[in-house]
Amino acid sequence: MAGPDDADSDERETNPVISGHDVVKEYVTGGETVRALRGIDFRVDPGEFVAIVGPSGSGKSTLLNMLGLLDVPTSGLVELNGLDVETFGDAERTRKRKETIGFVFQSFHLIPTLTAVENVEVPRLLDRTPRKTRDAATDLLERVGLGERLDHYPDELSGGQKQRVAIARALVNEPRLLLADEPTGNLDRDTGDQILAEFDEITDEGVAVVTVTHDDYVAQSADRVVNLIDGTVREDEEAVTG
Ligand SMILES: Nc1ncnc2c1ncn2[C@@H]1O[C@H](COP(=O)(O)OP(=O)(O)OP(=O)(O)O)[C@@H](O)[C@H]1O
Ligand SMILES: [Mg+2]
Repeated sequence: MAGPDDADSDERETNPVISGHDVVKEYVTGGETVRALRGIDFRVDPGEFVAIVGPSGSGKSTLLNMLGLLDVPTSGLVELNGLDVETFGDAERTRKRKETIGFVFQSFHLIPTLTAVENVEVPRLLDRTPRKTRDAATDLLERVGLGERLDHYPDELSGGQKQRVAIARALVNEPRLLLADEPTGNLDRDTGDQILAEFDEITDEGVAVVTVTHDDYVAQSADRVVNLIDGTVREDEEAVTG
């Protein structure tokens, strides 16, 4: 996510997966207006791992919702693969989201009555190729180290295993952008490391990963850290790894 002055100095060769210019998001509740995002610029390139950090209420989830086409800005421009998202109707926005973006939520959102492999299949339930869907779901669970847990139900899995099922599910439609809100929030360090290793692997394949995090060690593994303060980007620079 480039800062406002970076446009000329930092001409990158790739086209961003998603970008925003002067993005404002206001919420109006009970006659009061909250400016959750105060005119920010951002871009996410293929294969990048970006961490969004900042205090509670600074606009991190609002920004993630914007990147995920779950919300539209009050003003400003958001482009997905170079297309102004405001020109999409609701149905098209939903379709683009499904084709392009995978979500991992902190609380997993797994369906308790479905097994691990069935949960991963959910985003492809309407596919006419159940055999291929099962193969893809099985492959992904093997990739995240859960090949031995295909038929376990969520309450038969540990927190880290559930999170890995959620990641596999987010990847089953082969997204170009993976968005995660505190994916390591409930996890111990070792399990968090496994999640980071998985992110590493998918960014190598060109998928962009954007994660909201409060964990320093997650931010340190990112290519870039976006520091939000009160709806404004305070720092947006290459992570200093040490
Ligand atoms: N639906 C909403 N209606 C009104 N105000 C909202 C709404 N959603 C968020 N806000 C306000 O917008 C601001 C940014 O909220 P946001 O959820 O993006 O913060 P955050 O950085 O994700 O915080 P946290 O770390 O606590 O999750 C906050 O002041 C919040 O109260
Ligand atoms: Mg939040």
